[in-house]
Order: sequence, then structure tokens, then C-alpha cells
Amino acid sequence: MSDIKKIKDEFFLKLKEDLNLNQINEIKNDLFGKNGLVSSQFKKLGSVAEEERKKFASELNTVKDELQNKLVKKIQEIESKEINQKLEKEKLDITLPERPFFKGKIHPVSQAIDEISSIFSEIGFSVEEGPDIENEYNNFTALNTPDNHPARDMHDTFYLDNKKELLLRTHTSPVQIRTMLKEKPPFKIIAPGRTYRSDSDQTHAPMFHQVEGLHIDKNINMGHLKGCLDYFIKEFFEIDKIKMRFRPSHFPFTEPSAEVDIGYEIKDGKIVIGEGDKWLEILGCGMVHPNVLKNVKIDTKKYQGYAFGIGIDRLAMLKYGINDLRAFFDCDYRWLNHFGFDPLDVPTNYRGLSR
Ligand code: DAH
Repeated sequence: MSDIKKIKDEFFLKLKEDLNLNQINEIKNDLFGKNGLVSSQFKKLGSVAEEERKKFASELNTVKDELQNKLVKKIQEIESKEINQKLEKEKLDITLPERPFFKGKIHPVSQAIDEISSIFSEIGFSVEEGPDIENEYNNFTALNTPDNHPARDMHDTFYLDNKKELLLRTHTSPVQIRTMLKEKPPFKIIAPGRTYRSDSDQTHAPMFHQVEGLHIDKNINMGHLKGCLDYFIKEFFEIDKIKMRFRPSHFPFTEPSAEVDIGYEIKDGKIVIGEGDKWLEILGCGMVHPNVLKNVKIDTKKYQGYAFGIGIDRLAMLKYGINDLRAFFDCDYRWLNHFGFDPLDVPTNYRGLSR
């Protein structure tokens, strides 16, 4: 048997074995590498007798092609075997149920703040924020609240130091001061946020929420205040007609001051806003006191305006039919699941809160 035929038979036998890619590469090298068996046969070509050379060359080429084809096939076989093994191992079982997950709900107070902010933004108010920990000046003095005012009493206010310089803000009104000190008039802002008073019963919580409103410009009057509140209440309660009354009142930071009541009645055990002959107090307001404007260096001959402070929790209770204020802050999942709101992007595979 010629050398060439021997090489072929030997390697065909070898290639029948179960080989991996490394072993195949070794075989490739043994055959076609620089000193490989096939390559050496080609080198021999020159020394073959002339009459034999043609036959030798053609036989060598045929065997070379056969071996190369065989190698390529074997490599493909191994590669596809490896892929199949990998696929088998990493198979995804899409019949498995997905892991449970819990989607939160938006708290009614957060929902109310969002709604209030978007209603006021429609008529040009922007949103300001202030810190929960305030200084005595912004919370009282700058707002024309005298030292002997009952609101300053320990029974009403959470002070954070003995000197009574720092406190948990008792209302959102100090944001008026912060805003007016920061920028120049005109101002048209609302400031929603947490407020604190030493108070707790079915309708009062030590922490509650207010939204402050402030509109300062040239020639702003009580008519603008009334129009603004009328618009807001109709939008918030989603009704066309409301009954609203301004009751004279007193706040140190406004003159004149008023409290605003809206008309309601009870129908089938539920509060209906806008009808009936009962009155519900929902906010305090007035024309900003000149002393307040002077404290923030605004020229009272040029500028004036109105301010208001609304209790957010009260509005949310009325709109969403919640009757105990304390439930807002109990952090009870079942309550939140019932009264909370779905975020806009509800996942399609949502299966509810299963706690
Ligand atoms: N800050 C007042 C309070 O907490 C509410 C209030 C009344 C705010 C009149 C105002 C206002 O801006 O003008 O009772």
C-alpha cells in the first residue's frame, strides 16, 4: 500500500472516534502543518520519478481533498453537537409561573397633591417646596405673627430646641416667605407639603398636609382670589356648580382675611358637594398683609396679592369618601390597597396585592 493510502486509512479511522475540537485541530496539524504528513508528501513530489509523478500528484491531491472535507465535516458535527448540548442545558421552561411581585398603590394624599398641582398649573401656578424643619422667623415673625399669638404656644407647636428657634412648620405659609426672599415679584405659586401641630383626634393628626397659594402682582384683588378658588373647587370635585361663601376671619398675615366654606348635603349617607344647605369649612385666605410684603422687601405701593391655605387631607377625605383622618397615617396595607390609586403604568401581568 502506498504511503498516501496508509495516511488516508489511518486518519479516516481516527476521525471515526469521539473527538473534541482540540483533538481535531491536533489532527489537522499532524496532516497539514508545516511538517505534517500530507505536507511532507507534497515535498516528496520533486524526488518522484517523472513517469510516476503525475499519478502520485493526482492521488495525493485526491487524498488531501478527501481528508480536508472529512475534517470540515467533523468540525461541523462537533460544533452542532456542542450547540445542542448547550441548548439542552440552558433550556428555558416557559411554562413556569412567574415569581410573585407586589405592586404598590399611590396614597390618597399623594394622589390629591398631584391632582391639586395639575389643576393650579392649568392657570399658571408653579410648585414650590420648603423644608419640614423651619425657623421661627419664617414660620411666625415674617408672617406678622406676634410673640403672644396662641399658635406660638408649646401646646400647639413642636419646637426642636429650648430657645424655640427651630420647629416643625405649623403651616405651609413659610414657603411664601422663602419664595419671596428668593426671587423678585410677580409670584404665582402653590406649595403643598407636610405640616405639624400638637393635636390628635378623629379629625386632627399631629402631621397633616396643606397646600399654600400665593399670587402677588400689580393690581391683584379679592375678585381674583374668588375666581381662582371657585375654579379650583369645581375642578377638584369635578362638578359644574358649587356654593361657596367667604366668612370674615382673622389671620395675622392677611388683611382682610376670610375662611371659605362650601355648600353640601348628605344624600343616601354620602356627602354631596355643591348642593344643600350645610356648610363645610375648607380653607383660609385673604389679601397678603403689607407687613408681610415689607418683611420680604416688596414695594407695597407697586405690588399686592392674595394667599390661601387649604387642608389637603380634608379635601382628600371628602373626594374619596374616607371618614377617619387617622387611617391616612396607619400604614395599613389593606386600607391602602382599597383606597390607594393605581399608578398610570399598570403592568399587564399584575395579579394584585397578595399580602
Ligand atoms: N396658614 C393658615 C393655617 O394654617 C392657613 C392660611 C390662611 C394660609 C390664610 C394663608 C392664608 O395663606 O392667606 O391655618
